[in-house]
This record gives sequence, C-alpha cells and structure tokens, in this order.
Amino acid sequence: MAGNSIGELFRVTTFGESHGHGLGAVIDGCPSGITISEDDFVFEMERRRPGTRPFDTPREELDRVEIFCGVFEGKTTGAPLGLLIANRDVDSQPYEILRNLYRPGHADFTYEKKYGHVDPRGGGRSSARETAARVAAGVVARKILEAEGIFIKGFTTALGGIRASKMDRRAAESNAFFCPDPNAVEEMERALQRARDDGDSIGGIAEVRVSGCPTGLGEPVFSRLDADLARALMSVGAVKGVEVGAGFEAAGRLGSENNDPITPSGFASNNAGGILGGISNGDEIVLRAAVKPIPSIAKEQKTIDRQGRPASLKLTGRYDTSAIPRIVPVLEAMVAIVMADHLLRSRSMRVQQF
Ligand SMILES: Cc1cc2nc3c(=O)[nH]c(=O)nc-3n(C[C@H](O)[C@H](O)[C@H](O)COP(=O)(O)O)c2cc1C
Repeated sequence: MAGNSIGELFRVTTFGESHGHGLGAVIDGCPSGITISEDDFVFEMERRRPGTRPFDTPREELDRVEIFCGVFEGKTTGAPLGLLIANRDVDSQPYEILRNLYRPGHADFTYEKKYGHVDPRGGGRSSARETAARVAAGVVARKILEAEGIFIKGFTTALGGIRASKMDRRAAESNAFFCPDPNAVEEMERALQRARDDGDSIGGIAEVRVSGCPTGLGEPVFSRLDADLARALMSVGAVKGVEVGAGFEAAGRLGSENNDPITPSGFASNNAGGILGGISNGDEIVLRAAVKPIPSIAKEQKTIDRQGRPASLKLTGRYDTSAIPRIVPVLEAMVAIVMADHLLRSRSMRVQQF
C-alpha cells in the first residue's frame, strides 16, 4: 500500500490504523531548531477530536501526541521527527457486521478488490482516524509558516445546504462549526439534528484561507501551488471537489469580470484566490473543499456480501453525522503541510551568490 507520503523537502508520512495500537506521522526534512513540546499539539488535536461537539461521534479518542524522536532539549534536530498517537477508545464490536458486508459510499469494496482484504474494525487506513496524524504534522508545518508571518484558517461555509453569507473571522472562533456567519449557525445545527433524527448524514463546504503568503511559492508546471494544494485537500476522505478563488463560478463569467485588475498597490480583487500561473501572487490564498455526506448511516441501505449476494445494511456504530466541522482542522493541516514544503522549496531554489 504505497502513497502514504506527501511533500518534497518537508515530507510527511502517516502510518497506523484506527483500531490498531495507534498511528502517527514521520516528518523527513523537518528543519532543525524549531522549539516544540508535546503541549504544542493539544489545541489542534482537540479541534479535530470526536466527541467534543454535540453532533460528533461519541468515540473518545484521547489524542495525546508523543514526540518519539527528532527533538533534543526542546528543539527539532533536523533528523526525522516521529509523532505517535495511541488508540485508546477502541470498540470493534459494532463493526462485526462489516466482516461480510460492504458499506455503500465507503472504501470497503475498493480496498478489498485492490488488497484482497478489508479491515472491518473501522476501515483501517480509510478511517478518518488517520487524519489525526495529519493534524499533528500540520502543527509542525504551522510553526515553520508562522515564523514567516504565514497563517492558515479554516471555516465552514456551508452545511446541509445552509450557506454562510458573511466572513466574520471572530465569529468563527466562537461556534462549534467554525462558521464565519453567526446567523447561519442555528440553521446548520437544525440541519444536523434533522439528519441525525432521520438516521442520515449531511455534507457541506469548508474554506481554508492562507494569509501573509509571499509572492513566489509554487513550482510550475507539475508542482503548481494550486495543483499541490488541490491534491492535498483531495487526499482527505470525503472531499469530492476543490476550488481555488472564484473556482467553478469563474467558468460562467466574462474575462473582464474575472480578471483581477493590477494596481501599483496590489490586486484590486482576488478572483484568482492568491495564485496565478501556479505561483502565489502575494494575495490571500482562498481554497474551498466540497465535503460529501458521511457514508455510515443508520438508514437501511442496499449492498452485497463478500460472495456478491444482495444484502441490506443498517449501521449502529459510533459515527459522525457530518465530516464537518471535524474536517476543518484536517484541511488546515493539509494546507499547512503543502505551504511549509513550498516555502522550503522556494528557499532551495534561490541561487547562492559567491
Ligand atoms: C473528519 C472526518 C470524519 C469522518 N467520519 C466518518 C464517520 O464517522 N463514518 C464514516 O463512515 N465516514 C467518515 N468519514 C468519511 C470517510 O473517511 C470517507 O468517506 C471514506 O474514507 C471513503 O472515502 P471517499 O469518501 O473519499 O470515497 C469521515 C471523514 C473525515 C475527514
């Protein structure tokens, strides 16, 4: 099972399964001299952790990050940085039903066809539990970025068809959905409650913004900054589409409407979402991810068993009603990992003057 790493100079590999001993990340190429302690991970891990909001799965995954290697006297050494997260609240019993049935909308069918087996205890690598390792690696990436004045912030801009129509960053800090429109929060809550009562799930849109990004990050042509960011966001389960700036709306506009006029003091608008030609243009980077509804639902669904016979499935495990808002810190982490990688790559591109 290859494909567990991302990045060139800041290279993150995740490992582990949802119902094994634990999981984690190794960062190869982590710069030396970054001050770091296990406490630095607590805030971000809590933002992703299930069971901290009313509509999350009640699983209690106590996500304490242990720094296994790569740090000496509180600073990174430049050696591979190993981050471990133990699995504590593991209850495989509700997953027994999945030994013989594929979950519609989940990865069981394709994993079995490809690898010849599927981990029925929560889906193994396809479980969202893996995203805890990404969030841990993202904490380190953020340290590199924040030292350069680059900050990443994610929001829920739609949930169950309810859209935020305001971008109030402060408001996003004070509600459980990271929603920047305080007026939309109650309706979002109601949409989640309705879905939950019906034994169903809902999707939405998460937006991630990068502020303070200098001009010049991105390596055309195959490592365009937008291409690498889209790949990183699409690597998160349940993400089914990515937009940069005006995104899909740009397709219906005139060039004269969509171009961002250039003035001596900068761009007059930001339809480009901060990236032109695959290179950051110094403006805020604006990304959006379409998040599908959670596949595990309590409603009866048609499926087949391992022998290919028709069957029906009604799930009773501990599932989220939506990947939103838990996915928001995960998407922030993926953006941080790509941005840190490109920041380091842009430095290595500079010609040394002798
Ligand atoms: C933060 C987060 C939480 C998720 N929680 C669940 C869950 O409780 N139950 C579930 O079936 N899928 C959950 N998912 C979605 C699955 O991981 C995803 O649908 C599955 O891996 C199949 O991948 P695909 O949807 O990209 O095809 C979650 C995803 C994320 C990012």
